[in-house]
Amino acid sequence: MNTRTRVALITGGATGLGRAMAERLAADGLRIVIGDLRGAQEAAQAIQDQHGVDCLGLRMDVTDAVSIQETVDAAAARFGGIDVLVNNAALFSTLVNRPFDQYDAEEWMQVMRVNTLGPFLCAKAVAPHMKRQRWGRIINVASTSALKGLANMAHYVTSKGAVITFTRVLARELGAWEITANAIAPGLTLSDQILQNDAHVQQFGEAIRKSRSIQRDAYPSDLVGTVSFLAGNDSAFMTGQTLCVEGGAVFV
Ligand SMILES: NC(=O)c1ccc[n+]([C@@H]2O[C@H](COP(=O)([O-])OP(=O)(O)OC[C@H]3O[C@@H](n4cnc5c(N)ncnc54)[C@H](O)[C@@H]3O)[C@@H](O)[C@H]2O)c1
Repeated sequence: MNTRTRVALITGGATGLGRAMAERLAADGLRIVIGDLRGAQEAAQAIQDQHGVDCLGLRMDVTDAVSIQETVDAAAARFGGIDVLVNNAALFSTLVNRPFDQYDAEEWMQVMRVNTLGPFLCAKAVAPHMKRQRWGRIINVASTSALKGLANMAHYVTSKGAVITFTRVLARELGAWEITANAIAPGLTLSDQILQNDAHVQQFGEAIRKSRSIQRDAYPSDLVGTVSFLAGNDSAFMTGQTLCVEGGAVFV
């Protein structure tokens, strides 16, 4: 294990849950790389100003291997490597909820491209850095909807099932290098973006609250402690797991 201050790349970290995760890892003292389609530089500057750690914000598209490699190369050049990858970017808050047979093939493939191809390409790009140092943490953001089989978001729910499965494969393939891969599975969590897209809350909010053992709304702050744990040394012997952070809505 190296002694550099660790570096975390958070995809889709400019807003929403990814932003909250990036802020927590910055508060933990990690250096932060935000890779997002928009707003990455502003987010990185704000986190740097608030937490006093070096941050880099780069425009990155998780469906584009060239764009990802440019981000990883820039991060490695600036900070010496990447230690933690949070595969957070996904299509979610902007999706329209419909029965499965009302989605067309292109809508389905677009969700799969961002939500499943993205984590694959990002893991592939950071793995050489993690293998070289024989230490790494890959944290994939899944969703409890995949465990529940939530109706009316078939493409999204299916994509998150794939994220859970991919996490298990990564754990098997990377364990030899002391690299862990775990997933965090939130339920409906009231980020600013979700509150703007009232449809999710209208359609699912009340039923989801009632389905929880702890029957209240979830906020980004409810998730970040788990991300902090998965990114650090204390989770070193845990890999391939999906941690559901939804007030006891599902038990696995
Ligand atoms: N908020 C919830 O209720 C909830 C619940 C369960 C799981 N999740 C998961 O948490 C993660 C974050 O969710 P959120 O609610 O903050 O979503 P969001 O839609 O608010 O934010 C997603 C972020 O990803 C970025 N992004 C989208 N496509 C990208 C691409 N091709 N390349 C790079 N960046 C891209 C967006 O610009 C945005 O900053 C997602 O993986 C989502 O599936 C969210």
